Amino acid sequence: MKILVIGCNGQLGKSINDVVKNLPYEVILTSREKIDISNLEETRDKVKYYKPKIIINASAYTAVDNAEKFPQDSNLINNIAVENLAKVCNEVNGLLFHISTDYVFDGFSQIAYTEDCKTKPESEYGKSKLMGEIAIQKSNCNYIILRTSWVFSEYGSNFLKTMLKLSITKEEISIVKDQVGCPTYAKDIALLIFHIISELDGEINIKKLYHFSGNEKLSWFNFAKLIFKIQGELNSSFKSPKLIPVDSSELNFLAKRPLFSVLDTSKLSKEYHFKPMLLDNAVKQCIEKINEKDKSSK
Ligand SMILES: NC(=O)c1ccc[n+]([C@@H]2O[C@H](COP(=O)([O-])OP(=O)(O)OC[C@H]3O[C@@H](n4cnc5c(N)ncnc54)[C@H](OP(=O)(O)O)[C@@H]3O)[C@@H](O)[C@H]2O)c1
Repeated sequence: MKILVIGCNGQLGKSINDVVKNLPYEVILTSREKIDISNLEETRDKVKYYKPKIIINASAYTAVDNAEKFPQDSNLINNIAVENLAKVCNEVNGLLFHISTDYVFDGFSQIAYTEDCKTKPESEYGKSKLMGEIAIQKSNCNYIILRTSWVFSEYGSNFLKTMLKLSITKEEISIVKDQVGCPTYAKDIALLIFHIISELDGEINIKKLYHFSGNEKLSWFNFAKLIFKIQGELNSSFKSPKLIPVDSSELNFLAKRPLFSVLDTSKLSKEYHFKPMLLDNAVKQCIEKINEKDKSSK
């Protein structure tokens, strides 16, 4: 089975690259240089050339604060280009495996969001991602949309890597305490995608939306504490900076972030019986990989 991956240089794209090595599929990994989804005509031509059975869209405009300044850019990548992908996916009779976000919700709920909860994005990024979802659902193509949250990995930029970097130069770090969510290891998303593909067993006539995230709910502040605790266990010379809990309103981010970002993942676990790694284990594995890379680059 031919699977086309778009956006192979991002956190998820690289994690997909790591997990596909021993799988029985023909996986074509493409970076922005090979397929730039903002170039609509060229993307159509290339997808038609490859004729994949499944397209995994790991690409996105993810600069949440920049999207407030340049909403047309996030709309182009997260909505218009996604609509284009969905149309061409339909034309090649494929399945579009698309990734979306907890930012489609306003974050004012007290209980975990299910797939049926009302969406109400508060940021330009969230709006563009929701428009992309809607475009796919309207296109009549076969699709799986996976909403996830708080992605971290040994690749690209993310909260965990930022904390480790800051710990080298800062004695004190202010961390948001009033936003709660479930950190999700990109490797788990990659493993889940291929678990679902294997369960589908070639039957791609499907139109589904799922929520998926890591197993533990915590604030950014407590996530930072966990990251430094584990780095301390792995590295005896590590000295944790002092962590100062602050409210998100004190940090003046351009984009509004949901205060409560917890996704109810029970639909997916019921249908696919897939469990993410325990958060401690995922963080440990991720930090070990970062430390290894740092050591070998010295
Ligand atoms: N990161 C999170 O915390 C988070 C949370 C919830 C949901 N998600 C969703 O999860 C998915 C994966 O996110 P991620 O964290 O892996 O993102 P990421 O690390 O920012 O990677 C995004 C990738 O998209 C590529 N890209 C951007 N514009 C493109 C274009 N025009 N054509 C082709 N490729 C393009 C980028 O290419 P370059 O490498 O060339 O820049 C980059 O490799 C996204 O759909 C995101 O919305 C992420």
